[in-house]
Amino acid sequence: MLDKTKRGWWKSAVFYQIYPKSFQDSDGDGLGDLKGILRRLDYLEKLGVDGIWLSPVYASPQVDNGYDISDYRSIWPPFGTMADMEELIAEAKKRGISIIMDLVLNHTSDQHFWFREALKGKDNPYHGYYIWRTGTPDAPPNDMTAVFGGSMWTYVPALGEYYFHQFAPEQPDLNWDDPRVRRELYDMIRFWVDKGVEGFRLDVIDSIAKEPDQKITSRGPHLHEYIRELSREAFREEGLVTVGEAWSADVAEAGRYSDPSGRELSMVFQFEHTFADCANGDKWAAVPLSLPTLKRCMERWQRGLAGQGWNSLFWDNHDLPRIVSRWGDEGAYRVESAKMLAIALHGMQGTPYIFQGEELGMTNIRLPIEEYEDLETRNRYAEELARGTPAEQALSAIYARSRDNARTVMQWSGEENAGFTTGKPWFALNPNYRQINAEAALADPDSVFYHYQALIALRKRYPVFRDGDFTLLYPDDERLFAYTRETEEEALLIACNFSRDPLPFALPEKFRGAKPLLGRDGEVLGPYEGRLYYQKRARP
Ligand code: GLC
Repeated sequence: MLDKTKRGWWKSAVFYQIYPKSFQDSDGDGLGDLKGILRRLDYLEKLGVDGIWLSPVYASPQVDNGYDISDYRSIWPPFGTMADMEELIAEAKKRGISIIMDLVLNHTSDQHFWFREALKGKDNPYHGYYIWRTGTPDAPPNDMTAVFGGSMWTYVPALGEYYFHQFAPEQPDLNWDDPRVRRELYDMIRFWVDKGVEGFRLDVIDSIAKEPDQKITSRGPHLHEYIRELSREAFREEGLVTVGEAWSADVAEAGRYSDPSGRELSMVFQFEHTFADCANGDKWAAVPLSLPTLKRCMERWQRGLAGQGWNSLFWDNHDLPRIVSRWGDEGAYRVESAKMLAIALHGMQGTPYIFQGEELGMTNIRLPIEEYEDLETRNRYAEELARGTPAEQALSAIYARSRDNARTVMQWSGEENAGFTTGKPWFALNPNYRQINAEAALADPDSVFYHYQALIALRKRYPVFRDGDFTLLYPDDERLFAYTRETEEEALLIACNFSRDPLPFALPEKFRGAKPLLGRDGEVLGPYEGRLYYQKRARP
C-alpha cells in the first residue's frame, strides 16, 4: 500500500475510473449504484489500483449522466444514500483505495437551487451566480455554438435575458467572476474532504474562467489565478491528488497546471494524443491512426513535462471509444492488442488511469440509432442528417466515436445481463459479454486482467517507471512503438507492434542481456505483440 501522507504519492499510483451507472447494480433497478461498487471493491483490490475516480454520483436530473448536478452535497437516490457513500469511502480506504470525486465546477444543472433562484429575477441574490446578457428572442449575444450543439445562449422570456452554457441548455455555466460562487464551491469541496475523499477530478477545469463577450471559453485570462485560489482554499492537504480535465492544454500549459511550485493541480488530462486518428482536429472525422503522429505527440509530452510537471496517462474514459476497437484489434488479436496497448501506456512517465472494462479488453458497440443514450451522440446525429449527410455515414462516425461506446454495462460474467443487474439494464449490453467478462478473465492466468495487475505491481516495484528519462526509438516507423526509460540504476525498453504484421526486432546494443518483465523474448514481434524489458544497471 502506498503511504498517502507522502507528498507526490500519486506518482507511483494507478487509478481506476468508475462510471457508476454502468458498473454494478445491487438492487435490480437496472442502474449501477454505490452498494454495487462496494461489492466489487475486492475485485479492484485484486487488480491493485490505488484509487477510484468516481464519475459524478451527486443529485442530478441526469441530462448528461450526472455531469449536471442539482445538489453537490447529496447523492442521487438511485445510486444510494450518503451513508452508502461514507461506507464506500471507508471500505475502499481499508483496501488502500482512495476515492477521487468528480467535481463539476464549470456549471450546475438548471435544476440546482441556485439556478432556480436566479431565474426568479435580476435582483435575486443568486442571479449573479450565472452569466446573463440582455437581448431579444431572435438575437443571441453572439454565435457561439455549444459543445453538444445549438447556441451557447438560451433565452428566458420572463427576464428578457439570455444565460450562457457551454454544454447543454440544462447545464448553465457558473459565473466564476463572482467571489460568492467561488466561496460556495470551496466550502462544498471541504464538505467532501471532511468525509474522507482523498482527491478530485476537475471536470472541464480550463473552461471556468470564460469570457463570453470575447468568445473565450477555455484558458480565459483569470484561469490560473482562479485555480491557485481554489487550490489554496479547498485543496489544503498535501496528500490530496487533483487532476484537471483540460482539453485545451498544450505541453507548456500543462506544465503550468502541474508544476508543484505553481501550487495549482497534481496533473491534468490532456487530449492531444486522442487526435492522432482524426482529420482536422475533429473527433468525429475518423481516419486511420498515424503511429508516427501518436509517437511524436507522446514524446513531446514525456520530454516536455519531465522534471517539471506530471503527466496523466490514459487511452480510455467515459467520453472516448474503447482503445482495443480504436488502435488494437477487436477480432483475433483482441487479447494481444489489449495487452500491447497497456504496455505502451503504462511504460511511460505519469499516472495511469484505467477505465472500467479496459482491464478486460472490452470493445465498442454498434446500436440502432434510437438506442443511443448520450445526448452528444443524439444531437450529433440529428445535426448531421440536417446537414444532408447520408444516414449510413453519420452512423459510421457514431460507431467509431460515440461516448456510448464506453458506457455499455460492465461485463462481470457470462450470465444473464452480464452479471451487471438482475433487472433490465439502463443501457445496452455488448453482446460479446458471453466471451469477454471478468469471471472468465479471473479464471485465465493469461488474461488481460492479470496483465494489468502485473503492470500495476511493476510500477510499484521499480522506481524507473516513475523516474526514468524517456527516449523514443524509431520515430518514423509506422508499425513499431518503441521507447526506453532510463535512470542511472535501471532501464526499461518497451517494444509494441501496432500492426498485424510480424516485425523483426533486435534489442539495441545497450540492452543486451535485458530480460522481458512482461511478454516473450525473441527476434520477431508477433501481430499486436507488446514487450517490456528491464535491466539493472551498474552505477557508473
Ligand atoms: C466533461 C465530461 C463529460 C461531460 C462534460 C460536461 O468533458 O467528461 O462527460 O459531458 O464535461 O460536463
